[in-house]
Amino acid sequence: HTIQTFLRALPKCEHHLHIEGSLSPDLLFDLAARNKIQLPSANDDPAFASPETLLERYEHFSSLDDFLHYYYIGMSVLLHESDFHALAYAYLRRAHHDGVMHAEMFFDPQAHTERGIDLDTVVRGLRAGCAAAESEFGISTQLIMCFLRHLPATSAHETLKAARAAIEDDGSITGIGLDSSEKPFPPQLFESVYAEAQGLQAAATAGMASNGSGRLRLTAHAGEEADPSYIRQAVDLLGVERIDHGIRLAEDESLLKRIAETKTMLTVCPLSNVRLQCVKSVAELPLRKFLDAGVRFSLNSDDPAYFGGYILDNYYAVQDAFKLSVEEWERVATAGIEGSWCNQARKAEML
Ligand code: HPA
Ligand code: ZN
Repeated sequence: HTIQTFLRALPKCEHHLHIEGSLSPDLLFDLAARNKIQLPSANDDPAFASPETLLERYEHFSSLDDFLHYYYIGMSVLLHESDFHALAYAYLRRAHHDGVMHAEMFFDPQAHTERGIDLDTVVRGLRAGCAAAESEFGISTQLIMCFLRHLPATSAHETLKAARAAIEDDGSITGIGLDSSEKPFPPQLFESVYAEAQGLQAAATAGMASNGSGRLRLTAHAGEEADPSYIRQAVDLLGVERIDHGIRLAEDESLLKRIAETKTMLTVCPLSNVRLQCVKSVAELPLRKFLDAGVRFSLNSDDPAYFGGYILDNYYAVQDAFKLSVEEWERVATAGIEGSWCNQARKAEML
């Protein structure tokens, strides 16, 4: 098991983790009871009979949308600042155990504000959980706010406006992303939102959470289920510096070359791609092609409570499928550190 020891010790950064996707069925049922949230009845959906049946249902997602149905029901049990605090802290404790030194966490503000939860409640809770984990584990953390692409761009504009103080004054939001149902919601629908976001300054906060650039950072999910034109649009129309998933990049040779040259990092999520049937097995992912073409990528867990594994499980699955060399693993780790959105001093500590 020396390879497992090696992978655990490798300095890992997580760039693609939806904090709401770290909500386990056990905690989901606990919070539903405590917060008096009515889950679907077992008559309507037998998966909701117990935490065990729900976990079993998670092994049979047919698509991204099939997963998202459960994901949005799951997060409906999150009400209070303390719920978000507990969720962030529990994830970071687990990530630290897996050897994660730096974690950039997505959250979905509209999925909470649409239920009447204030953005401030969400952000304060997440930041408190992050602060506790930073001081206890020495991990560094950042928050990335994602817009839901199944909602209209006007809603994303309102969300960006509501987040302005968190971005520009207290620096608690480092970047923006785009997630939820990929098709038929191409990146071009959000061009004006990203254009507005590009004009925002990110506050230079002291400490580990500070975002080295002073600008709001930009990423988007693209090329998970949809074809490479979504990746091209994200780069050309949204101006992203990173692509979340991006596995279908392998189908477009000229774009692949460009992504390699611009050092645009893909945040690949192997176990997610298998569970959502984007690929039949981890071995089918184009990671060998990416390595050979010099396309940078990091490996991530996406929604670990739903997809059967945390970050180290994803590293193990890639090793089982590809048998990377030590030099190749070191290249993956270095790309992940360099592609992170923390400041240079923090990167230097991890390298
Ligand atoms: N893709 C799109 N939206 C998401 C995902 C994903 O993998 N996880 C949580 N929201
Ligand atoms: Zn994702």
